[in-house]
Amino acid sequence: MTTYVEATSKKKRMHGIIPLHGEEGFAGMRKAGALTAEVLDRVTAMVEPGMPTDKIDRFIYEFARDNGAIPATLNYRGYRYSCCTSINHVVCHGMPSDRPLREGDIVNIDVTLILDGWHGDSSRMYAVGEISRKAERLIDVTYEALERGIEAARPGNTTGDIGAAIQQYAEAERTSVVRDFVGHGIGRLFHDEPNIMHFGNPGTGVELKPGMVFTIEPMINLGRPQVKILNDGWTAVTRDRTLSAQCEHTIGITETGAEIFTLSPRNIFNPLGARAA
Ligand code: MF3
Ligand code: CO
Ligand code: CO
Repeated sequence: MTTYVEATSKKKRMHGIIPLHGEEGFAGMRKAGALTAEVLDRVTAMVEPGMPTDKIDRFIYEFARDNGAIPATLNYRGYRYSCCTSINHVVCHGMPSDRPLREGDIVNIDVTLILDGWHGDSSRMYAVGEISRKAERLIDVTYEALERGIEAARPGNTTGDIGAAIQQYAEAERTSVVRDFVGHGIGRLFHDEPNIMHFGNPGTGVELKPGMVFTIEPMINLGRPQVKILNDGWTAVTRDRTLSAQCEHTIGITETGAEIFTLSPRNIFNPLGARAA
């Protein structure tokens, strides 16, 4: 059974209890989401051959500090960076380092900023110079998968409808969906109820209600879905070393559908934003 509670005072994740946010929460999430999206827009120009990802991390740290925000990943369960930078066959949780980006790399940059206590969580793919056609196709499929997931996110549908929309599309495109990491409720907490699987069956899971706030963040592989974690305890890679891509928005369920809190202000990351002319 699922219980829903008005999200006012809840301070820690409670299993099976889903917070429902009101206008104050949505207003806070709009601001946190907009700031996260802005920094993801701003790092676009930094993604070039020769750029080490720890310089991008530093930029994100300073941007957050200068705007009164805190990167949620910094010191989170021992993680030491302001973002995750996941390159090529890295699925997620890649750690920034002094290794320079190389022509042809694809990199996911994932940022969560806390502003006034509210968490905005988003990630996108960035191409380093010219990339292969298969890498480009993987990114297109991943963005479309996120769009289909968001389109399924409306009152009366279930979390399973979101997962099913993503999985059916990704597999029809002969790609695979990672099972080991999921989207999550978010708000005053970084990771809250419910889990949002990126696979599954229509009509299963939890019913979506206005006021729910969560991320959708599919990880899509060109090869098989299995992952392994490297010895650093964080970096997740594809077992078969094929390319992986991811993208993430933070959304809130409204009376009629979903509001996306992390839309790109410059419209350079498009899932369900206004299309550039
Ligand atoms: N931003 C990631 C997410 O979407 C979480 C990263 S946790 C970290 O859930 F510790 F790896 F940074
Ligand atoms: Co997330
Ligand atoms: Co994230």
